[in-house]
Amino acid sequence: MEIKGTVGVITGGSSGIGRATAERLAKEGAAIVVADLDEAGGAETVKRIESAGGRAFFVKADVTRLEDARRMLDTAVSKFGRLDILHNNAGIGVGAPGFPEAPPERWHLVIEIDLQAVILGTGLAAPLMQNNGGGVIINTASMAG
Ligand SMILES: NC(=O)c1ccc[n+]([C@@H]2O[C@H](COP(=O)([O-])OP(=O)(O)OC[C@H]3O[C@@H](n4cnc5c(N)ncnc54)[C@H](O)[C@@H]3O)[C@@H](O)[C@H]2O)c1
Repeated sequence: MEIKGTVGVITGGSSGIGRATAERLAKEGAAIVVADLDEAGGAETVKRIESAGGRAFFVKADVTRLEDARRMLDTAVSKFGRLDILHNNAGIGVGAPGFPEAPPERWHLVIEIDLQAVILGTGLAAPLMQNNGGGVIINTASMAG
């Protein structure tokens, strides 16, 4: 896929793998919407991309919330004109204690962020991508899955 001229949304783009992916895609010529709960980290990702000559915009979003997921994807279209790439990268681990000691509330949150939000984002992104003939959806998983 030719990256130059595309527009991507990266969830969990305020740190780690999401930030690294955002910087790399921006370097290849994509405009990036960085979506995350962490505003300071998101601002830093945008700053790094812009300092390197790229284009990026931060949207504060909780990927488990329908209205936030919709807003982060719509921002790609309103700010940069289209949506070509969605990287469902935001995620959390169970942490310690693990299974079976971890409380049910923790499992609920893991499933909400790591699974349900991926389905939500994918379902909302697909029609926007179809508007320009298709796109790419990347879901980061884990051996722990
Ligand atoms: N780092 C690893 O070794 C590793 C291994 C296997 C899988 N993964 C997966 O890769 C992905 C990224 O991992 P990382 O190491 O970069 O993690 P990280 O903690 O550095 O980044 C995750 C980001 O997701 C954001 N986030 C969490 N919940 C959110 C929510 N509800 N809405 C929006 N943003 C939210 C966090 O604020 C954070 O910026 C995760 O899905 C993780 O499970 C990582």
